Amino acid sequence: MLVEGLRRLEYRGYDSAGVAVLSQGRVESRKKSGKLMKLLDVLEAEPLPESPTGIGHTRWATHGGPTDVNAHPHLAGGGKLALIHNGIIENFAELKAELAEGGHSFASDTDTEVAAVLLADCYERLLPSEVAWGGLTVAMQMACQRLEGAFTLLAVHADQPGVVVAARRNSPLVVGLGDGENFLGSDVSAFINYTRRAVELGQDQIVTITPESVEITDFYGAPAQGREYEIDWDASAAEMGGYASFMEKEIHDQPDAVAQTLLGRSGPDGSLALDEMRIDADRLNAVNKIIVLACGTSAYAGQVAKYAIEHWCRIPTEVELSHEFRYRDPILDQDTLVVSISQSGETMDTLMAVRYAREQGAMTVAICNTNGSTIPRESDAVLYTHAGPEIAVASTKAFLAQITAAYLLGLYLAQLRGNKFQGEIKDVLADLAKTPDKIQQILDNSGQIKDLARSMSESRSVLFLGRHVGFPVAMEGALKLKELAYIHAEGFAAGELKHGPIALIEEGQPVFVVVPSPRGRNSLHAKVVSNIQEVRARGAKTIVIAEEGDEAVRAYAEHVFYIPETPPLLAPLLATVPLQIFACELATAKGYDVDQPRNLAKSVTVE
Ligand code: G6P
Repeated sequence: MLVEGLRRLEYRGYDSAGVAVLSQGRVESRKKSGKLMKLLDVLEAEPLPESPTGIGHTRWATHGGPTDVNAHPHLAGGGKLALIHNGIIENFAELKAELAEGGHSFASDTDTEVAAVLLADCYERLLPSEVAWGGLTVAMQMACQRLEGAFTLLAVHADQPGVVVAARRNSPLVVGLGDGENFLGSDVSAFINYTRRAVELGQDQIVTITPESVEITDFYGAPAQGREYEIDWDASAAEMGGYASFMEKEIHDQPDAVAQTLLGRSGPDGSLALDEMRIDADRLNAVNKIIVLACGTSAYAGQVAKYAIEHWCRIPTEVELSHEFRYRDPILDQDTLVVSISQSGETMDTLMAVRYAREQGAMTVAICNTNGSTIPRESDAVLYTHAGPEIAVASTKAFLAQITAAYLLGLYLAQLRGNKFQGEIKDVLADLAKTPDKIQQILDNSGQIKDLARSMSESRSVLFLGRHVGFPVAMEGALKLKELAYIHAEGFAAGELKHGPIALIEEGQPVFVVVPSPRGRNSLHAKVVSNIQEVRARGAKTIVIAEEGDEAVRAYAEHVFYIPETPPLLAPLLATVPLQIFACELATAKGYDVDQPRNLAKSVTVE
């Protein structure tokens, strides 16, 4: 059961794994560096005893390299206590020195072992009456009062059979409610096979589970409440469904991801409605600036959205990486709308930026794919992307769903503020509704791009160019290639090339170009074609993504991939797809694990 849960959580980190169970008054633990498979080998060679109580962990190294010794669980208290941890204990050096002075020794380089030793030390200091009452919970309260930083901790103690105690501060933890069994996990996928009833916890809470009970307190022992909710997807949504990888499956989930995100958005009068809007219309009417905050792929979704939101709402919109935002003394006030975009809803950099924005009095809206996660909970309003669980570390379907949701938000604001007539909004919504079928057409005709990807597996460097909304698409295409195939790739604004990056072009350099539609008055088509000529004249091998019917580009391209006609602002929902397929296929041809690329983690819950 533990290994099965870890398999579902492995996308969060996979440089080592370990489990510990309670059996006959002892803690038994196995751990191993490398992917979960390696732990399975150990478990086969040295099986664990049967046990109804245990904890397990997959690691993404922060303090101490990914070795066997640094893997979790960490044991303490003479081997009677086992602890696992996500996050970073910021005062670990201080605590370690103090505990060492008290006679404790350490086997690993991790901050986690310090937490384990501290917890064991607290446990040993308990009065007999406290031990009888539920000693591990009290010890956990004492330990948490000493810890600084961000952490999720789970611990078991040999003298407390049938009990797991957990704590959280700024790091994810959810409870699964079963029948005569209860669960804890970093996210619900850990226990989705057993129950769809979950409880979300608040910050700085401790939860003690037994087969029959779930008790929540704060770090000082005061009783607290969680919010129970029903998980709206099942285990099959998190299975590969016949595809060779989660990534491939999720690329193919995209028509559905967009369609689901669009569903159920109209209010009784036919106008657009959002999921949870706890901001008054008056305040939204007063918005004079929007700041979009996100990291990674989600930040590129934000960059796409900026073009649409400014165009539809006429509100100045900035897009900023969450980790940069807070440290540059940004200008924001109560009339600023801060829109965070996060698939997981747990990215620490984004969470901290959202908190900062709230402290400054700004309104906060979260665009998020994970129900019950922290960022939406701490925001004034939420727009959920209904992409379903995304397991592959490199984001695909969440990206398209995020663009869709951000567009809905833009249209919502335009409607509220009267920037667009109802009819115009309906037209955009109708175009959006046609997108899933168009994505499907691209998926159904992906043979040519896959062939090209396989033929390019030896490439050392690939460049991506785009203008307007095609610019963030180019950057996302480059990111996918870096993440999955470990090939040097850069995305540039096509117009910027001549100001420097064109020096990179030499004979045979592959360059992808996202070409805008030639239709429409303000089309940038001619400008992009000029940019293609500039790189071709210097020896580049050009690979073009263009709109069906755009025959003119053929003359300038070694390869052309056509996407169905769509209004320019919606083109990213289509143009991204061939780039995702290209990266996935090329990485697969190189024999890489596309679901779990090296060094990455899906949900980065440390700053
Ligand atoms: C990590 C992942 C990326 C993801 C980014 C933001 O770095 O590897 O794929 O885009 O986090 O994640 P979020 O959950 O906030 O969208």
